[in-house]
Amino acid sequence: MKIFLDTAIRADIHRLAAMGVVDGVTTNPSLLKIAKAPYREVIADICEMVAGPVSAEVVAEDWQGMVREGRELSSIAKNVVVKIPMGFEGIRAVAELKKERIATNVTLVFSSNQAILAAKAGARFVSPFIGRLDDVGHDGMEVVEEILAAYEAYGYETEVLVASIRHPQHVVRAALLGAHVVTLPTRVLEAMFQHPLTDIGIRKFLEAWKQVPKS
Ligand code: E4P
Repeated sequence: MKIFLDTAIRADIHRLAAMGVVDGVTTNPSLLKIAKAPYREVIADICEMVAGPVSAEVVAEDWQGMVREGRELSSIAKNVVVKIPMGFEGIRAVAELKKERIATNVTLVFSSNQAILAAKAGARFVSPFIGRLDDVGHDGMEVVEEILAAYEAYGYETEVLVASIRHPQHVVRAALLGAHVVTLPTRVLEAMFQHPLTDIGIRKFLEAWKQVPKS
């Protein structure tokens, strides 16, 4: 399973990418707002730090505008993936950008039906937002399970990018289902490194080492 970072904070991406566990990055307008720098500069820097796909989102509301913005975003770097919101206009834009071989990530997906349409239109990634589904009383991961089964049944090549992840248990469930990608806020990726028994174990070994003859 690929791990993407869901942030536009360059210092975090730089630090965590150096650990060899980051395969890509996803951004959105809310995340770019926090980065507090011109978006082209931020996306270009991220694309240099991470060789894998870097999603950058359009904000136009009509398909023609989405296509224009998609072309502009994809000109920033070769690894930019254009993030397009689900909907009539969005799917039309995905189909157009596909003709130009521009990779897309259909975002704000909350149902299997939406994901099926994204795959048929030729999206490279589909992003079901599981945390936001959980927030309103659904089990977001059930939607991921359905999407994976539907894609498998028909051989769709679109990768399921599990988004809106809130905690490490979401990551485990995504992995057990065979999701292609998870995109993680920095704090969730950091939490995956940690376990209290690891800390206790390290302290015990270091204490024991003090009593090991050194020569
Ligand atoms: C990913 O592509 C999305 O931008 C992100 O995961 C949304 O997460 P949120 O629901 O925490 O805003």
